[in-house]
Amino acid sequence: MNLSELLGSDRIRAAEWTISEQRLVIEEVLGLVMVDQILREQESLSQEQIEKLLTIAARSRRGEPVAYILGVVYFDGLRLSVTSDVLIPRLDTEMLVAVASASIPRERAIQVHDMCTGSGAVALALKSRHPKCEMSASDICRQAIACARANAVSLKIDVQFRQADLFDGMGMFDLVTANPPYVAWGDPEVEAAVKRYEPELAVFSAANGLALIEQLLTDALNHVRSGGILCLEHGHRQAHDVYLMASDLGWQIITTYQDLAGRDRVTRMHKP
Ligand SMILES: C[S@@+](CC[C@H](N)C(=O)[O-])C[C@H]1O[C@@H](n2cnc3c(N)ncnc32)[C@H](O)[C@@H]1O
Repeated sequence: MNLSELLGSDRIRAAEWTISEQRLVIEEVLGLVMVDQILREQESLSQEQIEKLLTIAARSRRGEPVAYILGVVYFDGLRLSVTSDVLIPRLDTEMLVAVASASIPRERAIQVHDMCTGSGAVALALKSRHPKCEMSASDICRQAIACARANAVSLKIDVQFRQADLFDGMGMFDLVTANPPYVAWGDPEVEAAVKRYEPELAVFSAANGLALIEQLLTDALNHVRSGGILCLEHGHRQAHDVYLMASDLGWQIITTYQDLAGRDRVTRMHKP
């Protein structure tokens, strides 16, 4: 059986992979990059290769995310390892990277901290785009920090990671980024796979999803230098609440950015 025939079979189609998931699975299992997946689709597969692909398809069909099955995901062009202790970095979060990246000057080295770093996705993406900046990152979860450190080592990107509850024991930064947990407990829109497979600590927060965001907005005032910036990802219905909390606390020049679907996803603010 060749790749083209296997991909057309009922057992693979039942996995309902997106095009990018299918490409990633084939790349990881067969070692074929995208162009080879097309050029070599008529070559015979070994029985072992067929079995591996069918096993992954069966796990996918039961709802397990492809990134957790393979232990790999691409984020902002970086190949990251992920474990069940970290949130799978989302395409949406590249928006946070883009907004933060536009806030980093090219000409001087600034201190940047990524809060709630999980797999290290945002910190590693920013440091690879801005090698001059001094990049650190933290997470409350010890296993997440281990995953982030392993990613930094395999990508050869210099980021200082530490385990901490929010800003505990930290100094001052010019720019802080964060994609905190912001989904309300019991939110009926949360996908079954997220509830079943992703860490609760990474997804949910009290007070309608706003508890950790409010704590972050409050604490960051003591850890962002005057004139510095905080960039925050949030739920697409939370922008107004974020704006009100941030302005009440004294943050200035508060701007919300929309994703390609026009939904409010990232808010940037300045410390006076
Ligand atoms: C939504 S995930 C974001 C992960 C990563 N930044 C990303 O975008 O893929 C939120 C992360 O916040 C961490 N977290 C939750 N509560 C925290 C706290 N009090 N202090 C620091 N990190 C926390 C979780 O462990 C989780 O890794």
